[in-house]
Amino acid sequence: MEFPFDVVAVLGERVSVVDQHLRPAGRRGPAHRGDLEQQLRTVIDELGKASAKAQGLPAPVTSAARMESNRHVLYILRDAEGRGSSKAAVIGFLKVGYKKLFLLDHSGAHNEAEPLCVLDFYVHESLQRHGYGRELFQHMLKSERMEPWRLAVDRPSEKLLAFLRKHYGLCHPIPQPPSAAHPKNARRRRSNPT
Ligand code: ACO
Repeated sequence: MEFPFDVVAVLGERVSVVDQHLRPAGRRGPAHRGDLEQQLRTVIDELGKASAKAQGLPAPVTSAARMESNRHVLYILRDAEGRGSSKAAVIGFLKVGYKKLFLLDHSGAHNEAEPLCVLDFYVHESLQRHGYGRELFQHMLKSERMEPWRLAVDRPSEKLLAFLRKHYGLCHPIPQPPSAAHPKNARRRRSNPT
């Protein structure tokens, strides 16, 4: 996904970590630069729209405004700078966050928990099945000091279920009842993969 500005300056590291302050940790230069902040907002909004479209959702679940009002963490992957004359491009993103949930277990009992949830995950259509999703996921697991089986996944798509099976051997998700207020509800259910 290309932008009419330098995404290396906007994002910093190859995997950039963004929280509610919208300031990537590894970005070089002054901490406050209005143009970079605006460009980061554009990157997040466009990624959110692309992810929603890829999943057939009626509206994005990821945007700069939503990031500011939640304690979520976004991992954004870009490609290498200076491939020929072309600008670096954004490859995809992964959004996670802690949520208080009542989770059903295998026996059908409800358990109150606050797991780290995979909330949104997208790799550009032209780059899927090249290992970039795994690169993002591995970065997140290391950074969050998390084991994959401990994660809850918010209404996983078939592609994400296949991804979790392939890379992490998570084969038996426990589907969770839908919550009426959630924008993804038209299509999918939360699950807790084990
Ligand atoms: N069909 C079936 N499985 C797929 C597909 C696909 N089109 N694409 C990726 N996968 C799974 C497979 O297990 C695949 O292994 P395989 O090629 O040997 O079958 C594996 O993922 C590939 O791993 P990566 O290359 O590391 O993953 P990728 O870079 O493709 O990223 C992702 C995975 C993010 C799920 C990507 O496919 C994508 O953006 N899909 C569309 C959006 C989406 O469904 N996002 C998840 C929404 S649910 C949520 O976020 C909570």
